Amino acid sequence: MALLEVTNLSVQFDTPDGPVTAVNGLSFELERGQTVGIVGESGSGKSQTVLAMMGLLASNGHASGSARFDGQDLLSLSPKALNSIRGNRVAMIFQDPMTSLNPYLTVERQMTEVLELHKGMTRAQARVRAVRALDAVKIPEAARRLGMYPHEFSGGMRQRVMIAMALLCEPDVLIADEPTTALDVTVQAQIIALLRELQREHGTAIVMITHDLGVVAGLCDKVMVLYGGRVMEQGSAESIFYQPTHPYTIGLLDAIPHIGQDGHTLLAIPGAPPNMAHLPPGCPFSERCRWAEPRCVSQRPALTALPEQPGVLRACHLSPAQIALPESEVQP
Ligand SMILES: Nc1ncnc2c1ncn2[C@@H]1O[C@H](COP(=O)(O)OP(=O)(O)OP(=O)(O)O)[C@@H](O)[C@H]1O
Ligand SMILES: [Mg+2]
Repeated sequence: MALLEVTNLSVQFDTPDGPVTAVNGLSFELERGQTVGIVGESGSGKSQTVLAMMGLLASNGHASGSARFDGQDLLSLSPKALNSIRGNRVAMIFQDPMTSLNPYLTVERQMTEVLELHKGMTRAQARVRAVRALDAVKIPEAARRLGMYPHEFSGGMRQRVMIAMALLCEPDVLIADEPTTALDVTVQAQIIALLRELQREHGTAIVMITHDLGVVAGLCDKVMVLYGGRVMEQGSAESIFYQPTHPYTIGLLDAIPHIGQDGHTLLAIPGAPPNMAHLPPGCPFSERCRWAEPRCVSQRPALTALPEQPGVLRACHLSPAQIALPESEVQP
């Protein structure tokens, strides 16, 4: 049994325009120490997927399917049972550290509170553990900084404090929702390297959400590519990067800046993400797909295995050969 087994997870919201299905039939497994990347443009359903698992959907939202963590379905746990798992065995970090840090409490108070609550430590024991946690995320002079307030840290350091908080109870799963998006590229790379190191040391499994395929490259074992709340393609990180088979994945990869490449050769995907309240009956990406045929607009392609690439699932009517770029358009 995998550590985390998500099966047919869907999220629906009641809106004045009628029901909106923000996440539609997502399934994946995560083993201890593994990282799964969830990738897609804004509004594709990445955050709602993990918020559903954590019982944190807005009040007009409803999740169905199952998300079994260590054998227990998170979607059907009582709020009390879920509370004892959240922040303890499954922790979450966000793009904005102030979402999880309290501006009015010192970092020390926030960290020791968590350890007193979940681990039954005394204040003195918790303090020692908190200094170690700040050390682990490479915050210089941890013992002195422990007494500071969140706003006294720089953006990158605040992100580290949040990671240290999330890892305090040595969770089995860390859910990271765009944790580096607001940071500059150098700090981003440091945070990713840090996550990788912490994962190696503790065997933490990570669910990494990002709209940037480049960020996932060095970190993920598996990748799911979402569009309009549905999986377009999922498989090993290697297959997604080196042998993408879905037009949307190919579009995302073409939009990654490469070192040494001048900006003009970047190919953004034309068009904008879809209106979730008015998706076409067929493939959600059909409106923007350069290979779309009439059946793509009217019939939804099922998510199916690809015999020539074991482990890859894709939802596309066209075969990988049909969407291979003609020779004249291949980038040198
Ligand atoms: N409370 C709500 N009521 C109605 N629709 C909602 C609600 N919350 C989210 N949605 C819709 O769910 C869809 C998916 O949202 P989600 O937050 O998962 O996107 P995302 O992939 O995380 O995007 P981003 O990269 O911008 O964070 C969006 O189209 C959004 O409008
Ligand atoms: Mg989001």
